[in-house]
Amino acid sequence: AKYIWLDVDPGHDDATALLLALHLPNIHLLGVSTTHGNAPSDCTAVNAARCLLAFGADRRIRVYPGADKPLLLPVKHDPEIHGPDGLGGVEGLPAPDSSDVLSWFATDSDGDNIRALDGMVSSIKETWKKGKGHQVTIISTGPMTNIALFVAAYPELLAAVEEFVFMGGAVGLGNRSAVAEFNIMCDPHATQIVLDTPVKTTMIPINVTHTAIVTKALHRQLLSPGAVPADTATLPPAATNLRHTLSTLIIFFAEAYKSTFGFNEGPPLHDALAVAYVSQPELFKTVRKRVDVELIGKYTLGETVVDIWNYQKCDDSWGVGGRNCLVAQSVDVDGFFELLMKCVSRCDQV
Ligand code: BDR
Ligand code: CA
Repeated sequence: AKYIWLDVDPGHDDATALLLALHLPNIHLLGVSTTHGNAPSDCTAVNAARCLLAFGADRRIRVYPGADKPLLLPVKHDPEIHGPDGLGGVEGLPAPDSSDVLSWFATDSDGDNIRALDGMVSSIKETWKKGKGHQVTIISTGPMTNIALFVAAYPELLAAVEEFVFMGGAVGLGNRSAVAEFNIMCDPHATQIVLDTPVKTTMIPINVTHTAIVTKALHRQLLSPGAVPADTATLPPAATNLRHTLSTLIIFFAEAYKSTFGFNEGPPLHDALAVAYVSQPELFKTVRKRVDVELIGKYTLGETVVDIWNYQKCDDSWGVGGRNCLVAQSVDVDGFFELLMKCVSRCDQV
């Protein structure tokens, strides 16, 4: 199994990333840190705990609240896509102020919350100490502030990191400006810091995530597996509470993607793909390129600039001066949804 640290900003699709990370058999989830992003950081932290509870997580997998704002830029959120609290319209999750939820945060001996950076560091150190084969893969599905702070403060621990995998960025496309994707646009400096590390890094851009759409047919299958696809106009009743929760998530996200981006077939599940990649990389085609983030452009701030022709003559090192990033180009969409459906079934058994 792969040891994973997951940094999220739930977020509808972050919730599905958490579900996969909990229920993919070859993933050993060490902990979950949260960041500002889709909603303010106090909301995303609580949302992560609500999801872990609803998805049957082992109590050892705790939530570690992280950065409130980006390294340099003013903070921004995305209520248009995720609602004001980050999980708009999602039914059946435990209440944000319930004692179960609040007790899911990791605490120290004084009863204070352990913050993202401290949680990551101690978990990665503890895992690394176990010896060969115990590197940790860090997956990021929101703005990368927490990860950049880790990189800056603990360079000696980079040897313990197997790979950084992030959902974000784009090749010649944007969703929160003409050319910038939301996660990178929120904290472009943080992403550049991670891209400059000598650690293998993989980017799952929106060019790829936009191909994995939850169509009506998939939505029906999720609600009621094995049901005869008779009347496709209406949705069947949910077979379980979990499936009802996921269906309300999809309905809200579908509406947001339809009204904002004109997606008529259904919403993409961006963040889940980053976790799927770590579990089943063979589902993805990737190419290794030099990637940098535009940090000063008037129109292009936060654009991921992919040097397709290796114009800069970069070498084979990861990090500065190297072709520093595996860029996902495509995903086996059927294979991805098969994986997701299996995880939902497993989650149903818990
Ligand atoms: C990314 O931004 C957020 O809306 C999603 O959670 C995802 O991480 C997609 O651009
Ligand atoms: Ca996200």
